Amino acid sequence: MPKNSSLRKAAKVKNDEFYTQYADIQREVNAYLEYNPDVFRNKTILLPCDDPEWSNFTLFFAQNFKNFGLKKLISTSYAVESKQLEIDYQPTNFEKYSSNFDETKTRCRGKIFTLDKDINGDGKVDFKDLKWQYLEDDGDFNSDEGKKLRDEADIIITNPPFSLFREFLKWIMEAKKQFLILGNMNAITYKEIFPYLKDNIIWLGVVNGAKEYITPTGEHKKMGNTCWFTNIDHGRRHTPLSLMSMEDNIKYSKHKEIKEKGYQKYDFYDAIEVPYTDAIPNDYNDLMGVPNSFLNKYCPEQFQIIDAIGRYSQLYGATEETQGKYLTMVNGIHKFVRIVIKRK
Ligand SMILES: C[S@@+](CC[C@H](N)C(=O)[O-])C[C@H]1O[C@@H](n2cnc3c(N)ncnc32)[C@H](O)[C@@H]1O
Repeated sequence: MPKNSSLRKAAKVKNDEFYTQYADIQREVNAYLEYNPDVFRNKTILLPCDDPEWSNFTLFFAQNFKNFGLKKLISTSYAVESKQLEIDYQPTNFEKYSSNFDETKTRCRGKIFTLDKDINGDGKVDFKDLKWQYLEDDGDFNSDEGKKLRDEADIIITNPPFSLFREFLKWIMEAKKQFLILGNMNAITYKEIFPYLKDNIIWLGVVNGAKEYITPTGEHKKMGNTCWFTNIDHGRRHTPLSLMSMEDNIKYSKHKEIKEKGYQKYDFYDAIEVPYTDAIPNDYNDLMGVPNSFLNKYCPEQFQIIDAIGRYSQLYGATEETQGKYLTMVNGIHKFVRIVIKRK
């Protein structure tokens, strides 16, 4: 067992258990439907890393099954024993009073819920028609059982465990699936993630930024830097940013650094520092370093992503000259991580 396993366990317990609100799912999904009303038609949607008995993802897609023209909805949960949750576990009444309930499985097995037709005969297909059973394993997305479900799906949608974000995206990409998942903004510059963003293979969703999530004890917890990652198209990414020229920015910018100092070059990297997305000059044709929140407004028809630079690192094309240097330094002062972009 690795030495730091108890630390890893603590981090996992802290970071991975928070649940998405219905309205946040609805707002995001609506943006894809607006762009393409048939985006989910005849599709099998998999909602892994969920807890179907009370998940808002499951509720939202089950209630909209007919509306979206879904073929099948599959939702899976992770066994409570594997979560190592430090709360007193009790199966829900739904599970306890179901004929499928099994005392020997309730803690160590994941569950699978499926929906594909009206089974209670009320003429609707909704939450009440979900069928469930225990999985053979604990519901780990990356198990053989998890991979089989992934392969059956057309689209994968969830808020996955943030501590396994790299592995989760890899699991999706190796099966070449469409997806919509929540993640942390810092993941943008992970070396396993950034190349996909750079090459427009994946992009950010629409309603990013501060959101409130629900904790296992029912409290609301605000998280400032979460965002959606996806490879499903939406209209926002085809809307160019409206920007001023460099001269007008220097004259009229609401940011005093720009008004006072103009645009400065990095000490060891051949680009100008642009500390705010709304201060990107629309007439500058060379490299510009912008905050990672620029990706919320990124339109691939307007800009090209070239690189990402951190304090000591360059994700792409590092040369001997730039290797190990303080790349985001301007006149001896470090800036945060920057995305390097160029006008198209
Ligand atoms: C951020 S929570 C989100 C839950 C739910 N999708 C939602 O949005 O409300 C991530 C969930 O993934 C579960 N999880 C952690 N590791 C997992 C794994 N290897 N496979 C499947 N689920 C896992 C966690 O226990 C947690 O319940």
